[in-house]
Amino acid sequence: MAGSFAAYVDDRPADKVFRVDRAIYLDDAVFAAEIANIFEATWQFVCHESQIPNHGDYFANHLGRQPIFVMRQQDGGIGGFVNACAHRGALLTPMKQGNAKTLTCRFHGWTYGSDGHCIRIKNEETGYDPARFRRTDYDLTRLPRVEAYRGFVFACLNPAAPALVEFLGEAARFLEFIAHQSADGMEVLPGSSTYVINGNWKLQSENAVDGYHVSTVHRVFGATVARREERPGYDGMMRTESGRIAGKVENGCYDLGGGHMVIWADRSPPDTSPLFEQKDRLERDYGAAKARWMLGRGRNLIVFPSLMINDFAATQIRTFRPIAADRTEVTIYCLAPRGESKSARYARLRKFEDFFLVSGMATADDVMALEDSQTGSRGRTARWGEFHRGLDSVVHGPDAAARDGKFNPVTSNNTWDQETLYHGFYRRWKALMTTEAIGAKEAAE
Ligand code: FES
Ligand SMILES: [Fe+2]
Repeated sequence: MAGSFAAYVDDRPADKVFRVDRAIYLDDAVFAAEIANIFEATWQFVCHESQIPNHGDYFANHLGRQPIFVMRQQDGGIGGFVNACAHRGALLTPMKQGNAKTLTCRFHGWTYGSDGHCIRIKNEETGYDPARFRRTDYDLTRLPRVEAYRGFVFACLNPAAPALVEFLGEAARFLEFIAHQSADGMEVLPGSSTYVINGNWKLQSENAVDGYHVSTVHRVFGATVARREERPGYDGMMRTESGRIAGKVENGCYDLGGGHMVIWADRSPPDTSPLFEQKDRLERDYGAAKARWMLGRGRNLIVFPSLMINDFAATQIRTFRPIAADRTEVTIYCLAPRGESKSARYARLRKFEDFFLVSGMATADDVMALEDSQTGSRGRTARWGEFHRGLDSVVHGPDAAARDGKFNPVTSNNTWDQETLYHGFYRRWKALMTTEAIGAKEAAE
């Protein structure tokens, strides 16, 4: 079966062909293999450190189909556990996020410490032979790997996975562009929004770094903000520059290697960003070139497979959880520099709502575009999704902007309309899908 997935990516650079079989969005066998070979075998984002600052703070999530949670330990470290009671498997965390020094299972009342040790079993003495029974045999199952990079917490079910920083590769530089936006660190703001798309998770990964769709799918949003900016009260940080949406500023895209991808566009002018108040500090601490990448340019990053960091009008963490071949759960958070001024925070939140929330003007358009693509992909007689746009302008290695930013992409391209960044994503996808499943199997041993 593994071999048959290889044919789904038609990758022939010499013939100027790069296309994927739309079965990858539809096929249940593909989906099951993705869960085993990608989501349960490679590093997955779980939460931001600011969401679990204190001992006992926990955050529940999924690695593939497996419920897990991470918990801040007494020594300040982060523990990771399968979110299943050692007795008969009930979920342990009462909520997605909270604080508990001990977790008591709501089914039969077994209790665990924040370090995962089983510390109490209801009516233990009447149920088990004290000569043979050891409570320590019923500690929670630890996740093999939990690591954080610049505040972003990841976990992995594969004990043999490379170190997180190695997995991140060139994408690490883009997490740094975010993390350094405050000398006091970044914080996820209270509240989140979760919605389900009737579409495959890869359509969402593609969409996150698809500059080509912006001026069509978001044309109504662009026209609205352009008109709004003629009115008083929408200057400075409150502005969402419409030039970017119309594609009128310098922009580009990179295949960062390892399946990670990024698009960027100049902020025109940069004082529309809530970060602008820190311009002097950024230039002083990091130099003009890095400050240009952090402030002068907006960026959309995909950390393979399904973490999106958006830093254009506002700053967003978006994660997507594959539920079925044609169903994806998306969760979004607003990320902000600690200690920013009240006016910068206000502008950031208003622009976050403007674009991303259910009541906003843009995400709903994206969801429709993805669901259209999912539905259209069922037209199996038309087999291929095309990704060869930009093959004539692709640069192998870094362009001038990448050299300025001190990162080293596999390829660069001259506008964010190009599709060459997806080649890295689908090459990584193909490599993982044509190896034996390792995640779930090794974690179970
Ligand atoms: S399933 Fe948790 S105590 Fe029984
Ligand atoms: Fe969009």
